Amino acid sequence: MNKLEFVRGGESTERWLGTKLVSVISGKGGVGKSVLAYNLAERMVASGVWVLLVDADFCCGNLHILTNQACQHGIIEFATNQLTLEGAKTIVAENLHLLASPTVSANRRLFDPKAASQLLTRLRREGSAYDVIIIDHSSGISEAASAMAQASDLNLITVVPELTSISDGYGLYKHLVESGNAKHCQLLINRTIAAEEAENVRNKIGAITDRFLGRPLDCIGSVPEDRVVRNAVASQIAIAKYDSNSKATRALSTVAQTIVRELFKDRIETVSGNEKSVNIEPAVADTRE
Ligand SMILES: Nc1ncnc2c1ncn2[C@@H]1O[C@H](COP(=O)(O)OP(=O)(O)O)[C@@H](O)[C@H]1O
Ligand SMILES: [Mg+2]
Repeated sequence: MNKLEFVRGGESTERWLGTKLVSVISGKGGVGKSVLAYNLAERMVASGVWVLLVDADFCCGNLHILTNQACQHGIIEFATNQLTLEGAKTIVAENLHLLASPTVSANRRLFDPKAASQLLTRLRREGSAYDVIIIDHSSGISEAASAMAQASDLNLITVVPELTSISDGYGLYKHLVESGNAKHCQLLINRTIAAEEAENVRNKIGAITDRFLGRPLDCIGSVPEDRVVRNAVASQIAIAKYDSNSKATRALSTVAQTIVRELFKDRIETVSGNEKSVNIEPAVADTRE
């Protein structure tokens, strides 16, 4: 089978080339990283993207619970070279695979920045059949998280509209800027109660990052507060499966689409009639079987 193909209106086909790594990070815990990582992955898969979801929270992994998978192994066995990606992954649904974190590891070497960037290099290599690899991180600022952010194509700094979360999100971004690892960061706002609130947080963070760091943090989108999220978590299913027309589902679909467009904007090949226009920085071989 070819790498991802989208047929639009029967006239043209777009092929998105290469594998992109997206890290979901935050300063503060409990802001919705795991829920968003899973549900953005689910929305991407629903639109034809092949996704590997990675639980990089070595101590408090949640993705196997959110996706309702009774797996015994995953990221630790992969990171310590006991298993290949093929052997360590769990199939959640068609085109949605999970590298879970169902056990707690006290292996300090896993938290080493060098080990973290090696982990991402291996994910890229062994995960080259996926279009997008979404990595759900533990909360906080660490050297390992910085190394992973540096090696990602997009870092989603997740905040909720609370002063403490905004402050910790700013602190994380500042750390990444000062350590030279702030390449490709975007703000993702969760649990907004109105469009004005999202706008307000977006403007506030944009202004303070511009003023104090000289690097304004742009916002990729927002997801509203919605009771459906809690219900979907309790039922261990994706939000869209719980309620396909909820506010949260619609917002997640929009954000997922924006992320995919952003990731592949320089690597889209359009085939229209007899014309073929290629917009790729180096052309990559299409290797998916
Ligand atoms: N948009 C939302 N609306 C309502 N509740 C939400 C929303 N996003 C997250 N939550 C709630 O917050 C809880 C914590 O989210 P989680 O993804 O575990 O946070 P993190 O991974 O950042 O620690 C979820 O279990 C869910 O109940
Ligand atoms: Mg989490």
